[in-house]
Amino acid sequence: MRITVIGLGYLGVTHAACMAELGFEVLGLDSDAERVAMLSAGSLPFYEPGLSELVSTHTATGRLRFTTSYADIAEFGAAASDGVVHFLCVGTPQQAHSEDADLSSLFSAVERLTPHLVGRCVVVGKSTVPVGTAADVVELLAAHAPAGADPELIWNPEFLREGNAVRDTLRPDRIVFGVRERPGREPESEGLRLLRRVYAEVIAAGVPVVVTDYATAELVKVSANAFLSTKISFLNAVAEVCEVTGADVKQLAEALAHDRRIGGGYLSPGIGFGGGCLPKDLRAFAATAEKLGLESLGFLRSIDAINLATRRRAVSLTVEACGGDVADKRIAVWGAAFKPDSDDIRDSPALWIAAALHDVGATVVVYDPQAMDKARKAHPQLSYADSATDAAVGAHAIVHLTEWDEFRHVSPRALSEVVHARNIVDGRNVLDARDWCAHGWTYRALGRPVVS
Ligand code: UGA
Repeated sequence: MRITVIGLGYLGVTHAACMAELGFEVLGLDSDAERVAMLSAGSLPFYEPGLSELVSTHTATGRLRFTTSYADIAEFGAAASDGVVHFLCVGTPQQAHSEDADLSSLFSAVERLTPHLVGRCVVVGKSTVPVGTAADVVELLAAHAPAGADPELIWNPEFLREGNAVRDTLRPDRIVFGVRERPGREPESEGLRLLRRVYAEVIAAGVPVVVTDYATAELVKVSANAFLSTKISFLNAVAEVCEVTGADVKQLAEALAHDRRIGGGYLSPGIGFGGGCLPKDLRAFAATAEKLGLESLGFLRSIDAINLATRRRAVSLTVEACGGDVADKRIAVWGAAFKPDSDDIRDSPALWIAAALHDVGATVVVYDPQAMDKARKAHPQLSYADSATDAAVGAHAIVHLTEWDEFRHVSPRALSEVVHARNIVDGRNVLDARDWCAHGWTYRALGRPVVS
């Protein structure tokens, strides 16, 4: 069996490399020639732990190849003796002038792929899409399929997290298959049987499989992201109540997490969520519900608003740490990526806060272990340093915004010697407050009492 992967972003590259790791011959396609050249040479166009090794290993053996040409897909598929599975992994970003998902890359990929399909084959949608998209893709496949081709569409949403992408792909919490025929129908369609074979090793490891219809499969993905966003914003809203009442949101979250019905995941209080997925999926889901004339998901607008308000509160807390005015004061920002173990800065809360501090007059010096190049390009108005300590030289406050491991290990004692004032604002609630205070620092975090 052979596999193609269309769209080589975080999702596509990870999926292609993991499919090669599972033993399949894989051809990845992207319209970006520079990206394809880089990947063909065995290097990654972004940072993701463990992925670089997989890409270099499997490009070296030839099991994993990349192209910009849809014609290569036909040739690659024709050589498969045991079926071809085409995975659609293109991005569905927020549209420039609306909150809807931009499906143009997805539809264009389907239109360009379909004429190259041969015989019975499976097309698998992995991109995050609004409900109803799979039905549109089925129509496109039917309209563009050449004579003799009989493509079957299965919707198989992806739940991987950046920073954990390889693990999440090879050992996901669940696999969802959205199928055209009534789920549970016996015998299962040929396409579904083929897809079960693709994931055989993953399923054999005990990963649960849910077979459902297209609409449910599409909705599982956006509901999961909306639910995670809701958990985060819920706690960050409670953090505000903690601040006013003198309570401690970190201890509160710990106590909530012991309740197995609630669970501890996505319950870390801090500066809120960002990245290329949660914020845009939340807005797109709210917009979908509104278009359907439903008011019941109106609260998702509040989740988004709380998230942005949380970023503003982090700015205010930093200004307060600097005595109420940051004009011409130096502020060290630790972190630029939207989360650790990633160099992705899309909708990064860290850079949002850094830019806002700059806008109110501070001299902001940023350091991130992986995202410096991307941050520099996106925010040339900010200053950058080569290490966490260099960023802190002469600072009136250090603001910790992306919880990279290395920031946990910086010595507050050594830093005391280089800063202008010993103020630490912990936007992620993971630093050891007692250790910092023991070295004369004032420790601030959202939703917790100030300690010094
Ligand atoms: C998210 C989902 O977790 C994945 O399941 C999904 O596949 C992916 O979106 C997607 O739709 O492609 P990702 O955006 O890579 O994954 O990263 P997360 O680890 O979920 O973090 C998202 C944001 O939430 C980060 O800014 C993180 O710092 C923040 N977060 C997370 C919190 O503020 N608090 C928490 O307790 C957890």
